[in-house]
Amino acid sequence: MTDHLPVRSSFLAFSRPTIGQEEIDEVVDSMRSGWLTTGPKVARLEGLFAEWSGGREAVAVNSATAGLHVAVAALDLRPEDEVITTPITWPATVNNIELCGAKPVFADVDRETLQIDPREVERRIGPRTRAIIPVHFAGAPCDMDPLREMSRKHGIRLIEDAAHAVGTAYKGRPVGSDADVAVFSFHPIKNMTTGEGGMILCADAAMAARMRRLRFHGISRDVWKRYSKGGTPQFEVDEPGFKYNMLDLQAAIGLHQFAKLEGFNERRGELAARYDELFSRVPEIRPLGRAAYPHRHAWHLYVVRLELEAVNLTRDEFLAKLQEEQIGTGLHFPAVHLQRFYREKYGYAPGDYPNAEWNSERLFSIPLYPLLEEQDQLDVVEAMRRIIRRHRKA
Ligand SMILES: Cc1ncc(COP(=O)(O)O)c(C=O)c1O
Repeated sequence: MTDHLPVRSSFLAFSRPTIGQEEIDEVVDSMRSGWLTTGPKVARLEGLFAEWSGGREAVAVNSATAGLHVAVAALDLRPEDEVITTPITWPATVNNIELCGAKPVFADVDRETLQIDPREVERRIGPRTRAIIPVHFAGAPCDMDPLREMSRKHGIRLIEDAAHAVGTAYKGRPVGSDADVAVFSFHPIKNMTTGEGGMILCADAAMAARMRRLRFHGISRDVWKRYSKGGTPQFEVDEPGFKYNMLDLQAAIGLHQFAKLEGFNERRGELAARYDELFSRVPEIRPLGRAAYPHRHAWHLYVVRLELEAVNLTRDEFLAKLQEEQIGTGLHFPAVHLQRFYREKYGYAPGDYPNAEWNSERLFSIPLYPLLEEQDQLDVVEAMRRIIRRHRKA
């Protein structure tokens, strides 16, 4: 415990969704209607995404993890196949490659933006490479042009992990609107939420049909087409599938969140600009760098790096001190190649991906969400300054 009063008297949560009366009423409406699971509201949410993307197929699922799983499963990978991805991601991106029986191959990130480095991807493309899964990290886009070029040249599928990127744009085009496959997340910390949930946008109608089938037991017809008026109860399993369908209860929340997304993202942008300004006077804290290509940042996360050379405590000790100051934080992300399973199975070791590892020891995320107030931001920065003052290296 500290021997002084914390910066705040109440705990500042790392994240909090913005839920209005509209979302609550829409959920209640579903509950009263008697239709709770996949139904008309899921179809409406899919329709909104399809329209917004300019005509991509939209497939709603119950998480982005599920979306990535059906997308990778639809590639029919074999054990010798390889899929290239980034080590700075949530494990779901990588686990799904492993669960589909292929080998994840990592490509290092840019040290300042933490986006996958296209040159590193190119170096790792070989005869067994079947797909690339770039992650639009923190709400900024990856550099897609060179990745698309590699995908065309080598006949490799591109599956964009857009979990952080609802509302992100790359060179004037919204992420997902020109993707082969892109998967968004609606987890409560994301820019819009459905409680848990995800949406796949896909250019290829046959692949979308396959993913729809895989999300529901491998049956081609959705449950509501079997049980609603005029439906017939028969079904046929075309291949073994999963149980990844989104509920109408979830879509009920999403319909209103999607309508508010632009406003949410604008507010996130304002808050991020304020953090930029505040941290310009704290040299021990380094926010991420911005990519040089034209883009619109959706500011899913505000990630900073602690200058370990300037203080006599580790990042984890620093975060424990921030907890004592009543400030919640997140970790996005410790490098996945150094997680036990991947270390032990593939022999990855420190030194393999220097940029990912350098950041992995230093990074953390601070509160950034529309409900955050300017005083909250001042508290976050003041708490960090206090800890730094007490632990500055002599
Ligand atoms: C980069 C990335 N990919 C995938 C996921 C999985 O999303 P979900 O929680 O919706 O399954 C996350 C979740 O945070 C993520 O950060």
